[in-house]
Amino acid sequence: MPSAAPVTLDHLVNHSRALITSLQTAEGAYPASPEFSAYRGYCWFRDGSFIADAMSSWNDVASAEQFFDWCAAAIITVEDDVNRVVAAQAAGRPVPDEEMLPTRFTFDHQRGSHDWWDFQLDGYGTWLWALGAHVARHGSAVAPYSQAIKLTVAYLVSSWHRPCYDWWEEHVEQRHVSTLGCVAAGLSAAIRLNVLDDELASQAEATASEITHLIRTQGVHDGHLVKWIGSTDVDASLASLIEPLQVIDANDPIAIATIVAIEEMLVHDGGTHRYLGDTFYGGGLWPLLSCFLGLAHHAQGNEHAAHYYERWAASTVTAQLDMPEQVGTHLLDPSHLREWTDRWGTVATPLLWSHAMHLRLAKELSC
Ligand code: BGC
Repeated sequence: MPSAAPVTLDHLVNHSRALITSLQTAEGAYPASPEFSAYRGYCWFRDGSFIADAMSSWNDVASAEQFFDWCAAAIITVEDDVNRVVAAQAAGRPVPDEEMLPTRFTFDHQRGSHDWWDFQLDGYGTWLWALGAHVARHGSAVAPYSQAIKLTVAYLVSSWHRPCYDWWEEHVEQRHVSTLGCVAAGLSAAIRLNVLDDELASQAEATASEITHLIRTQGVHDGHLVKWIGSTDVDASLASLIEPLQVIDANDPIAIATIVAIEEMLVHDGGTHRYLGDTFYGGGLWPLLSCFLGLAHHAQGNEHAAHYYERWAASTVTAQLDMPEQVGTHLLDPSHLREWTDRWGTVATPLLWSHAMHLRLAKELSC
């Protein structure tokens, strides 16, 4: 149930920081949503990276670094798998998708025993990007992460071109522009962290510019970014490539056209659908996506729009100030709601990534 009176920005910021801090595990993992049946016990590199970036932006340095420690430990755990993937690709016999790195890990760095739509590349880019943003902000030591950074870069350089599941764990057969952007952002950040040897650094640089070129040529239709290479549709996750990932400059005509297209097709009264055709819980409105739009608007100097999206995201919290993954006030296809509530229960609440994106936008608005 949404809260009755509008929650102030400060009040929600304090709640979100305390909530994230209280739920971070001893290993440094951020649970995606503590009680939600399908997410319980797991931490995603994608969600976690954006959560760490938000915490870092609010000077919760220890929390962000504990998360980066967790990422590094998870990657060291699968070091043999990384080496096998890289060697097989170099030999021209790439491993099957099932042998690629997982999307999420248990808190103690294991793959876990539940089936998932594994093999997504974006999170391996986002953790490098978030670490890079954190080091730039706080000047923290990079040395503890250098082995994990090198392994991640080698993995991405060898495999970035492979189709994989997208942010929404769908369409494994496509090359998703948001995923490509996350990988490019991660590789660029890794180069700046200055721990790669010359050869790996030049491979990372060449790969990042090849990806950016691919995005700007085949990842654009009608002037805006598209959901996957060859598609003409948009996906609201594309806003992240403008801010905070900064793969496309906020004032680039592609960025401007992308925001216009997302707003025309996916925004309803300040809330944001993932993409047309979404049926997950009926295809509702995602506060975290409205916050990505707010961040892009802020970078374009549109303060009014940035505040508008912040207020809408804040309006989705429950009486306990918990922000959900999505709200069902406007569903693209209500006939699909029941199948998901029957399968997994009510919508994931709180979703830590939702809180994080609100925090990140609130930080920009309060500077
Ligand atoms: C979403 C992912 C997210 C995961 C955990 C899934 O339903 O599609 O984007 O990473 O939940 O929050």
